[in-house]
Amino acid sequence: MIELAASVLSADFARLGSEAQAAIEGGATVLHVDIMDGHFVPNLTIGPPVVASLRRVTQAPLDCHLMIERPDDFIPAFADAGANWISVHQEACVHLDRTLRLIASHNCKPGVVINPATPVHTLDEILPLVHHVLVMSVNPGFGGQSFIHASLRKMEMLAKIRESRGLNFRIEVDGGIHHDTVADIVRAGAEILVAGSAIFEHGNPRESARQLLESARAAAIQPVL
Ligand code: DX5
Ligand code: ZN
Repeated sequence: MIELAASVLSADFARLGSEAQAAIEGGATVLHVDIMDGHFVPNLTIGPPVVASLRRVTQAPLDCHLMIERPDDFIPAFADAGANWISVHQEACVHLDRTLRLIASHNCKPGVVINPATPVHTLDEILPLVHHVLVMSVNPGFGGQSFIHASLRKMEMLAKIRESRGLNFRIEVDGGIHHDTVADIVRAGAEILVAGSAIFEHGNPRESARQLLESARAAAIQPVL
């Protein structure tokens, strides 16, 4: 099933609750929360108190994407704040197996993220541990960047690996998802589509989410010509 995860990074933070609600009314079923530390990525965003605030206004799963160094130090705080899914970057984790088990021990769904430069095969050993694999289709750090088309092949590879190994992780993609890229992404096998600027930049998150999801679902049932 195709799901839309609204990335609140591009929302108006002064009206975060109502922006998030509007995206959900438009069909987003997940809220994607980008956590940046100014070290792993060259930008700063938010921490556990904002996650706790979002928790109070929605039942939707909060998908916390940690773009931070030493994620183990912060996983308990994000879990306590109400995160449902927590993903960590393969590139940031020396002991990735341990970190994924730590997330699960806090009753959150563990996810792993790979940057555009990181090959899928680096995940071979930990795929049985994850609820989702997040393929970055931009270099992380900022909203509003252009989709990197080479990431499509990674989604296809993950779908094949999942099938051949009988695994059941979900395939999520993040960055540059708009009307002109969403069809290829869905056809490559992605199921959870993270979108920030496409939902929030036009001032009507409800309608923008609705239209993007409609395009995604249409691509999922259309034959490739
Ligand atoms: C980028 C973030 C994304 C970002 C996507 O580092 O991980 O979640 O919000 O933004 P768009 O959809 O504008 O590319
Ligand atoms: Zn993200």
